[in-house]
Amino acid sequence: MIVIRMGLNSIAVAVLLLAATASYASEADEVVIGDVARGQDVYNGTCVACHGENGKGELPGIPDLTQADGPLSKSDDVLLQNMIEGVAKEDAFIEMPPMGGNPDLSEQDIAHVLSYMRDTFGQQ
Ligand code: HEC
Repeated sequence: MIVIRMGLNSIAVAVLLLAATASYASEADEVVIGDVARGQDVYNGTCVACHGENGKGELPGIPDLTQADGPLSKSDDVLLQNMIEGVAKEDAFIEMPPMGGNPDLSEQDIAHVLSYMRDTFGQQ
């Protein structure tokens, strides 16, 4: 009987831990839990056409992601929102489309790609 009760308690603890991890990962806080390798796949599949392999931008109007005071100096919150919803400067002739123009991407994919960009283009 004691063994069964301990088992149930362990399951309850495991469920609580899972719930805590899930809510932490979905909160767009300063530290985004993304997977760099998966982010690289997303980047090369969707973002590279505009932002370029080196992150410096392939076309006029695309910001240089490698600049220390460039877009990646903004907080994760702001960047996630701008990537998910899209962003454009006034009178921009090219804009950042929502999800980079790929509706198949999830918000988790966007978190992965942010980790990839910080890892690859960031000035840590
Ligand atoms: C059609 C071209 C295009 C594609 C595709 C594209 N972007 Fe962008 N992106 C832009 C432009 C243009 C801007 C600058 C927007 C502005 O501030 O005017 C931008 C800005 C950004 C910024 C900076 C946002 C900020 O707040 O300053 C990030 C980060 C970014 N893009 C990430 C991505 C990611 C990740 C993808 C792929 C999922 C992607 N982009 C796909 C054109 C593109």
